[in-house]
Amino acid sequence: MRVVSTRIELREWKRAHLKKGQSIGFVPTMGALHQGHLSLVEQALKENDFGACSIFVNPTQFNNPEDLENYPRTMEEDLAMLESIGCHLVFAPPVTEMYPEGEDQSRYEVHYGHLETIMEGQFRPGHFRGVGLIVGKLFDLIEPQRAYFGEKDYQQLLVVRKLVDTLHQPVEVIGCPIVRESDGLAMSSRNLRLNTQQRDKADFIYQSLRKAKNHLVGSTVSETEALVKEHFTSQQDFELEYFIIADANSLETPDSDHPKSPLVGCISAFAGPVRLIDNMILFP
Ligand code: PAF
Repeated sequence: MRVVSTRIELREWKRAHLKKGQSIGFVPTMGALHQGHLSLVEQALKENDFGACSIFVNPTQFNNPEDLENYPRTMEEDLAMLESIGCHLVFAPPVTEMYPEGEDQSRYEVHYGHLETIMEGQFRPGHFRGVGLIVGKLFDLIEPQRAYFGEKDYQQLLVVRKLVDTLHQPVEVIGCPIVRESDGLAMSSRNLRLNTQQRDKADFIYQSLRKAKNHLVGSTVSETEALVKEHFTSQQDFELEYFIIADANSLETPDSDHPKSPLVGCISAFAGPVRLIDNMILFP
Protein backbone atom coordinates (compact mmCIF):
# COMPACT_ATOMS: atom_id res chain seq x y z
CA MET A 1 0.00 0.00 0.00
CA ARG A 2 1.34 3.41 -0.96
CA VAL A 3 0.57 6.46 1.18
CA VAL A 4 0.97 9.84 -0.51
CA SER A 5 0.30 13.33 0.72
CA THR A 6 0.83 15.60 -2.29
CA ARG A 7 -0.81 16.08 -5.67
CA ILE A 8 2.54 15.46 -7.37
CA GLU A 9 3.05 12.09 -5.65
CA LEU A 10 -0.50 11.17 -6.55
CA ARG A 11 0.10 11.95 -10.21
CA GLU A 12 3.32 9.93 -10.14
CA TRP A 13 1.58 6.93 -8.58
CA LYS A 14 -1.05 7.00 -11.31
CA ARG A 15 1.58 7.32 -14.03
CA ALA A 16 3.55 4.39 -12.61
CA HIS A 17 0.65 2.02 -11.90
CA LEU A 18 -2.33 2.70 -14.13
CA LYS A 19 -2.34 0.99 -17.51
CA LYS A 20 -4.80 2.02 -20.21
CA GLY A 21 -8.34 0.94 -19.38
CA GLN A 22 -7.62 0.14 -15.73
CA SER A 23 -9.97 1.52 -13.12
CA ILE A 24 -9.68 3.11 -9.70
CA GLY A 25 -12.45 2.63 -7.12
CA PHE A 26 -12.25 5.50 -4.63
CA VAL A 27 -13.50 5.95 -1.06
CA PRO A 28 -13.17 9.48 0.35
CA THR A 29 -13.05 9.57 4.16
CA MET A 30 -12.18 11.82 7.04
CA GLY A 31 -10.39 8.98 8.82
CA ALA A 32 -11.28 7.40 12.18
CA LEU A 33 -12.10 4.39 10.07
CA HIS A 34 -14.49 1.65 11.10
CA GLN A 35 -16.02 -1.42 9.51
CA GLY A 36 -18.41 0.77 7.51
CA HIS A 37 -15.51 2.46 5.71
CA LEU A 38 -13.68 -0.83 5.25
CA SER A 39 -16.71 -2.40 3.60
CA LEU A 40 -16.68 0.48 1.07
CA VAL A 41 -12.99 -0.05 0.34
CA GLU A 42 -13.54 -3.79 0.01
CA GLN A 43 -16.29 -3.17 -2.53
CA ALA A 44 -14.03 -0.73 -4.39
CA LEU A 45 -11.28 -3.37 -4.50
CA LYS A 46 -13.67 -6.00 -5.78
CA GLU A 47 -15.11 -3.87 -8.59
CA ASN A 48 -11.95 -2.11 -9.82
CA ASP A 49 -8.30 -2.77 -10.68
CA PHE A 50 -7.17 -0.50 -7.84
CA GLY A 51 -8.70 0.63 -4.55
CA ALA A 52 -7.87 4.12 -3.30
CA CYS A 53 -8.91 5.89 -0.12
CA SER A 54 -8.41 9.48 1.03
CA ILE A 55 -8.06 10.54 4.65
CA PHE A 56 -8.65 14.25 5.10
CA VAL A 57 -10.56 16.04 7.84
CA ASN A 58 -12.04 18.71 5.63
CA PRO A 59 -12.27 22.05 7.45
CA THR A 60 -14.67 23.66 4.95
CA GLN A 61 -17.52 21.28 5.79
CA PHE A 62 -17.51 22.02 9.54
CA ASN A 63 -19.74 24.90 10.53
CA ASN A 64 -18.77 24.38 14.17
CA PRO A 65 -15.05 24.90 15.00
CA GLU A 66 -15.35 22.76 18.15
CA ASP A 67 -16.68 19.86 16.12
CA LEU A 68 -13.70 20.18 13.75
CA GLU A 69 -11.27 20.28 16.66
CA ASN A 70 -12.85 17.27 18.38
CA TYR A 71 -13.16 15.16 15.25
CA PRO A 72 -11.27 11.92 16.02
CA ARG A 73 -7.91 11.56 14.29
CA THR A 74 -6.47 8.04 14.27
CA MET A 75 -4.12 8.02 11.28
CA GLU A 76 -1.88 5.12 12.37
CA GLU A 77 -4.78 2.77 13.09
CA ASP A 78 -6.51 3.86 9.88
CA LEU A 79 -3.47 3.02 7.75
CA ALA A 80 -3.06 -0.37 9.46
CA MET A 81 -6.71 -1.24 8.73
CA LEU A 82 -6.44 -0.19 5.08
CA GLU A 83 -3.22 -2.14 4.65
CA SER A 84 -4.83 -5.25 6.17
CA ILE A 85 -7.59 -5.33 3.54
CA GLY A 86 -5.24 -4.72 0.61
CA CYS A 87 -6.00 -1.09 -0.26
CA HIS A 88 -3.52 0.06 -2.93
CA LEU A 89 -3.35 3.79 -2.41
CA VAL A 90 -4.03 6.25 0.41
CA PHE A 91 -4.09 9.98 -0.20
CA ALA A 92 -3.66 11.82 3.11
CA PRO A 93 -2.90 15.45 2.28
CA PRO A 94 -2.36 18.34 4.69
CA VAL A 95 -4.86 21.23 4.54
CA THR A 96 -2.43 23.39 2.53
CA GLU A 97 -2.32 20.76 -0.23
CA MET A 98 -6.09 20.74 -0.70
CA TYR A 99 -6.57 24.47 -0.12
CA PRO A 100 -3.44 26.19 -1.43
CA GLU A 101 -3.59 29.94 -1.09
CA GLY A 102 -5.03 31.69 -4.10
CA GLU A 103 -6.29 28.55 -5.89
CA ASP A 104 -9.32 29.25 -8.06
CA GLN A 105 -12.13 27.11 -6.66
CA SER A 106 -14.97 28.61 -8.70
CA ARG A 107 -15.40 25.38 -10.74
CA TYR A 108 -16.68 23.68 -7.58
CA GLU A 109 -19.27 26.28 -6.65
CA VAL A 110 -22.34 24.16 -7.29
CA HIS A 111 -25.85 25.16 -6.19
CA TYR A 112 -27.62 22.20 -4.65
CA GLY A 113 -31.01 23.94 -4.28
CA HIS A 114 -33.45 22.26 -1.93
CA LEU A 115 -30.83 19.58 -1.07
CA GLU A 116 -28.63 22.08 0.74
CA THR A 117 -31.32 23.89 2.70
CA ILE A 118 -33.07 21.03 4.49
CA MET A 119 -32.04 18.64 7.28
CA GLU A 120 -28.21 18.60 7.44
CA GLY A 121 -28.12 21.70 5.24
CA GLN A 122 -30.50 23.55 7.56
CA PHE A 123 -28.70 22.64 10.77
CA ARG A 124 -25.16 22.80 9.38
CA PRO A 125 -25.21 25.84 7.07
CA GLY A 126 -22.55 25.64 4.39
CA HIS A 127 -21.82 21.98 5.14
CA PHE A 128 -22.68 20.64 1.70
CA ARG A 129 -20.80 23.45 -0.10
CA GLY A 130 -17.74 22.22 1.82
CA VAL A 131 -18.43 18.58 1.01
CA GLY A 132 -18.96 19.38 -2.68
CA LEU A 133 -15.79 21.45 -2.78
CA ILE A 134 -13.55 18.73 -1.37
CA VAL A 135 -15.20 15.79 -3.16
CA GLY A 136 -15.08 17.68 -6.48
CA LYS A 137 -11.36 18.40 -5.99
CA LEU A 138 -10.61 14.81 -4.94
CA PHE A 139 -12.45 13.41 -7.97
CA ASP A 140 -10.45 15.72 -10.28
CA LEU A 141 -7.16 14.65 -8.68
CA ILE A 142 -7.76 10.91 -8.31
CA GLU A 143 -9.94 10.47 -11.43
CA PRO A 144 -11.70 7.34 -10.18
CA GLN A 145 -14.10 5.41 -12.41
CA ARG A 146 -16.25 4.64 -9.36
CA ALA A 147 -16.64 6.27 -5.95
CA TYR A 148 -18.27 4.62 -2.96
CA PHE A 149 -20.34 6.41 -0.29
CA GLY A 150 -22.19 5.03 2.71
CA GLU A 151 -25.95 5.51 2.71
CA LYS A 152 -25.75 6.64 6.34
CA ASP A 153 -25.04 10.09 4.92
CA TYR A 154 -28.05 9.80 2.65
CA GLN A 155 -28.35 13.49 1.87
CA GLN A 156 -24.61 13.69 1.13
CA LEU A 157 -24.98 10.88 -1.39
CA LEU A 158 -27.62 12.87 -3.30
CA VAL A 159 -25.48 16.01 -3.10
CA VAL A 160 -22.46 14.16 -4.55
CA ARG A 161 -24.62 12.79 -7.39
CA LYS A 162 -25.71 16.33 -8.20
CA LEU A 163 -22.08 17.51 -8.00
CA VAL A 164 -20.79 15.02 -10.58
CA ASP A 165 -23.78 15.70 -12.86
CA THR A 166 -23.19 19.43 -12.71
CA LEU A 167 -19.41 19.25 -13.18
CA HIS A 168 -19.70 16.43 -15.75
CA GLN A 169 -17.19 14.36 -13.80
CA PRO A 170 -16.95 10.88 -15.33
CA VAL A 171 -17.34 8.98 -12.09
CA GLU A 172 -20.04 6.54 -11.12
CA VAL A 173 -21.27 7.33 -7.60
CA ILE A 174 -22.23 4.16 -5.77
CA GLY A 175 -24.32 4.21 -2.58
CA CYS A 176 -23.64 1.33 -0.16
CA PRO A 177 -25.88 0.03 2.63
CA ILE A 178 -25.43 1.31 6.19
CA VAL A 179 -23.21 -0.93 8.32
CA ARG A 180 -24.61 -1.28 11.86
CA GLU A 181 -23.30 -2.44 15.22
CA SER A 182 -25.00 -5.57 16.61
CA ASP A 183 -27.55 -3.41 18.51
CA GLY A 184 -28.43 -1.48 15.35
CA LEU A 185 -26.43 1.71 15.95
CA ALA A 186 -25.16 2.94 12.57
CA MET A 187 -21.36 2.84 12.49
CA SER A 188 -19.87 6.31 12.60
CA SER A 189 -16.54 7.87 13.52
CA ARG A 190 -18.49 10.00 16.00
CA ASN A 191 -19.52 6.90 18.00
CA LEU A 192 -15.99 6.99 19.47
CA ARG A 193 -17.03 10.12 21.34
CA LEU A 194 -20.03 8.52 23.12
CA ASN A 195 -19.57 7.77 26.81
CA THR A 196 -20.45 4.28 28.09
CA GLN A 197 -23.98 5.20 29.12
CA GLN A 198 -24.72 6.98 25.84
CA ARG A 199 -23.25 4.09 23.85
CA ASP A 200 -25.34 1.55 25.81
CA LYS A 201 -28.52 3.40 24.93
CA ALA A 202 -27.66 4.58 21.43
CA ASP A 203 -29.74 1.87 19.74
CA PHE A 204 -32.67 4.15 20.64
CA ILE A 205 -32.11 6.02 17.36
CA TYR A 206 -32.26 2.88 15.23
CA GLN A 207 -35.27 1.62 17.22
CA SER A 208 -37.04 4.92 16.55
CA LEU A 209 -36.58 4.41 12.81
CA ARG A 210 -37.92 0.87 13.05
CA LYS A 211 -40.88 2.12 15.03
CA ALA A 212 -41.53 4.69 12.29
CA LYS A 213 -41.37 2.01 9.58
CA ASN A 214 -43.89 -0.18 11.40
CA HIS A 215 -46.16 2.75 12.18
CA LEU A 216 -46.20 4.04 8.61
CA VAL A 217 -47.89 0.82 7.44
CA GLY A 218 -51.20 1.92 8.95
CA SER A 219 -50.76 5.70 9.34
CA THR A 220 -49.96 8.87 7.48
CA VAL A 221 -46.56 10.52 7.04
CA SER A 222 -47.39 13.35 9.43
CA GLU A 223 -48.75 10.97 12.10
CA THR A 224 -45.55 8.94 11.87
CA GLU A 225 -43.33 12.02 12.15
CA ALA A 226 -45.32 13.09 15.22
CA LEU A 227 -44.98 9.63 16.77
CA VAL A 228 -41.17 9.71 16.54
CA LYS A 229 -41.03 13.23 18.00
CA GLU A 230 -43.23 12.06 20.87
CA HIS A 231 -41.05 8.96 21.35
CA PHE A 232 -38.01 11.20 21.89
CA THR A 233 -39.74 13.24 24.58
CA SER A 234 -40.23 10.00 26.58
CA GLN A 235 -36.50 9.76 27.40
CA GLN A 236 -33.66 12.07 28.40
CA ASP A 237 -30.54 10.61 26.81
CA PHE A 238 -31.05 11.86 23.26
CA GLU A 239 -32.28 15.19 22.03
CA LEU A 240 -34.00 15.07 18.67
CA GLU A 241 -32.81 17.69 16.19
CA TYR A 242 -35.01 16.56 13.32
CA PHE A 243 -36.96 13.61 12.05
CA ILE A 244 -38.24 14.00 8.53
CA ILE A 245 -39.92 11.60 6.15
CA ALA A 246 -39.08 12.56 2.57
CA ASP A 247 -39.20 11.31 -0.99
CA ALA A 248 -36.17 9.00 -1.16
CA ASN A 249 -35.07 10.23 -4.61
CA SER A 250 -35.37 13.98 -4.16
CA LEU A 251 -35.76 14.52 -0.40
CA GLU A 252 -38.80 16.65 -1.24
CA THR A 253 -41.80 16.53 1.05
CA PRO A 254 -43.97 13.58 -0.03
CA ASP A 255 -46.79 14.51 -2.41
CA SER A 256 -49.49 13.26 -0.13
CA ASP A 257 -49.88 11.50 3.19
CA HIS A 258 -50.27 8.23 1.28
CA PRO A 259 -47.49 8.42 -1.35
CA LYS A 260 -46.53 5.81 -3.90
CA SER A 261 -42.82 6.60 -4.37
CA PRO A 262 -40.13 5.35 -1.95
CA LEU A 263 -39.83 7.25 1.32
CA VAL A 264 -36.82 7.68 3.56
CA GLY A 265 -36.92 8.63 7.23
CA CYS A 266 -33.93 10.78 8.27
CA ILE A 267 -33.04 11.51 11.84
CA SER A 268 -30.50 13.63 13.70
CA ALA A 269 -30.14 13.53 17.47
CA PHE A 270 -27.67 14.67 20.11
CA ALA A 271 -26.20 12.45 22.79
CA GLY A 272 -24.72 15.20 24.95
CA PRO A 273 -22.45 17.12 22.57
CA VAL A 274 -22.24 14.24 20.06
CA ARG A 275 -24.44 14.59 17.02
CA LEU A 276 -25.59 11.33 15.42
CA ILE A 277 -27.50 10.82 12.19
CA ASP A 278 -29.22 7.80 10.73
CA ASN A 279 -31.88 6.93 8.18
CA MET A 280 -34.01 4.10 6.91
CA ILE A 281 -36.13 3.45 3.85
CA LEU A 282 -39.61 3.43 5.40
CA PHE A 283 -41.64 2.72 2.29
CA PRO A 284 -41.97 0.37 0.46
O1 PAF B 1 -18.53 11.44 4.57
C1 PAF B 1 -17.42 11.94 4.85
O2 PAF B 1 -16.64 11.38 5.60
C2 PAF B 1 -17.05 13.29 4.26
O3 PAF B 1 -18.14 14.12 4.17
C3 PAF B 1 -16.33 13.18 2.91
C4 PAF B 1 -17.23 12.59 1.85
C5 PAF B 1 -15.09 12.32 3.06
C6 PAF B 1 -15.89 14.56 2.42
O4 PAF B 1 -15.01 15.16 3.32
